[in-house]
Amino acid sequence: MNSRKCSDELDVGIGEIDAQHHHLANFINALAAAKITGTGRKQLSLMLDELAADMAAHFAFEVEMFEYTGYINAREHKRSHSKLLQQLGKYRFRFRAGDDVLDVVVDMLKTWLPNHIKHDDAKYAASLRDVAISVRTSWKENKNEGKSSVV
Ligand SMILES: [Fe+2]
Ligand SMILES: [Fe+2]
Repeated sequence: MNSRKCSDELDVGIGEIDAQHHHLANFINALAAAKITGTGRKQLSLMLDELAADMAAHFAFEVEMFEYTGYINAREHKRSHSKLLQQLGKYRFRFRAGDDVLDVVVDMLKTWLPNHIKHDDAKYAASLRDVAISVRTSWKENKNEGKSSVV
């Protein structure tokens, strides 16, 4: 998963969210690269913890957007986030305990992230844009009807 591919195919068209997705994709690649270049287990474990924390922060940001827009598929989408964090938690535990699961985690994330962006995040991004359009439209209507005023 390179960031160019992420940019071309996986952007959902909302700058802040796309930036967070790029950060996560780059982080996954950095973790894979760190293993190849012989980074120690302790450092790799810290990276894995930081990646999980960044993913959780990104998911929390998305949930805020769901609440803001009243997104209809929020529950299903949140379930997908929770499941991933649970899986990641189990792998982090196993890695700390000495299991050689880093390649498995990286492969899992390299599959999960683009799939999730393409199939789940793209849907709520579309609904977020719809809300933004309707806010703009109602603002214009209010303005035309003289309901807006500058205090
Ligand atoms: Fe996302
Ligand atoms: Fe998501």
